[in-house]
Amino acid sequence: MRKVKCGVIGMGLMGASGHVYNLTQIPNAEVTAICDSDEEHLQSATQYVDLTCKLYTDSDKLIEDPEVEAIVISTPNHTHRQMAEKAFSLGKDVFTEKPMAASLEDCRAMIEASEKAGKILQVGLLCRYNPQFHKFVEIIDSGDIGDIQMMFCKEFRAPFQNLLIQFGHTLKSKSQQFADSEEAARAAEEAQASVSLEEQQAWWRMRQISGGALVEKNCHHFDVFNWMLNDKVRARRVFATGGKNVHKQFEIIDHAWVSVDYENGVKGCLGLCFFAPWGEEVEWWAVGDKGKVECHLHHEEIHLIKSYYHREIIKVKFPEPREPGHRGSRVELEEFIKCVQNGTKPYADGMIGLRSVEIPVAAERSIREGVPVEVG
Ligand SMILES: NC(=O)c1ccc[n+]([C@@H]2O[C@H](COP(=O)([O-])OP(=O)(O)OC[C@H]3O[C@@H](n4cnc5c(N)ncnc54)[C@H](O)[C@@H]3O)[C@@H](O)[C@H]2O)c1
Repeated sequence: MRKVKCGVIGMGLMGASGHVYNLTQIPNAEVTAICDSDEEHLQSATQYVDLTCKLYTDSDKLIEDPEVEAIVISTPNHTHRQMAEKAFSLGKDVFTEKPMAASLEDCRAMIEASEKAGKILQVGLLCRYNPQFHKFVEIIDSGDIGDIQMMFCKEFRAPFQNLLIQFGHTLKSKSQQFADSEEAARAAEEAQASVSLEEQQAWWRMRQISGGALVEKNCHHFDVFNWMLNDKVRARRVFATGGKNVHKQFEIIDHAWVSVDYENGVKGCLGLCFFAPWGEEVEWWAVGDKGKVECHLHHEEIHLIKSYYHREIIKVKFPEPREPGHRGSRVELEEFIKCVQNGTKPYADGMIGLRSVEIPVAAERSIREGVPVEVG
């Protein structure tokens, strides 16, 4: 079986113990080069690759490496466009982490470059590769709740974690592998206890670099909203309110309510709270004219409610063994490799990536300007 030769850029939280490790577990993939501009991060990631893997500190050099045919980008959001464009200009396929980019202009440029090159652009929207969300959308599509009218999502959590700066790679990769363990939770709590200037200025806390909290984090959740509408209906207008009430030392907001109007009259609402140290509560509801369906990220079941007395609990089957980190993170790469081999289009393509960013970009602007914002 031919193996796709991959080069992975960004040996941080997602890149090393996530993408590099997952690629080494996929039979028809091979990691032939890795890159990080930080020598220490690069060296630490060598634990996941064999001795023949080439190491680069300059992403241009990895992309130019003639042996590398497919590029996986796992660097801060504002760097995705430049790396993807370079890869397309050299005829290479690209998987880029979510959010596709920090701005709509960058997302559009990436789509254009991939189309011009005729190469694959896949975005790391891993809910699209998680069986739980497939079941959730399948129930909506079945008509069991009637016609969908309202959608809700809430993400209540602690602030973005600073494990990379605080503890370095050993603990960070451990925390990914044992994402649900008490050990990881303790480490995260300790990390939050003291916040140095370096941590305050971590890229994900910088609005211009990350796109803002709603872009960096909630593009996943707005993507599921779009999916609940079969990607056929576009968001038209967003009104959002939010700000910094607790974590005032950070540049990004720590809470928001976002209201989204879709062109067919469906309404979406998302609540974000970054001062919920008790855990990660992420849940979605879809309300139709005949019922409601609920899905919680950390519960392996979906609830279908059709009357006061009818609550059906549907168990979700997940592949075993569980991949480290987020569910769907290996399946999305399996699809990328398959698409590279067969020249087929991935499910989470550039357009789905763009649509998942346009809602939070509008929401961030709505919060800044205090007015409703047209999407796109
Ligand atoms: N799919 C998900 O659920 C998920 C989860 C977390 C992060 N992400 C995304 O993954 C990407 C990376 O996030 P992370 O949490 O791993 O960040 P991170 O800060 O842990 O890692 C980023 C790495 O990129 C390196 N880097 C920065 N600029 C570089 C450059 N120009 N060239 C080469 N290396 C460079 C840094 O040194 C660092 O090691 C982001 O786009 C983020 O939004 C996705």
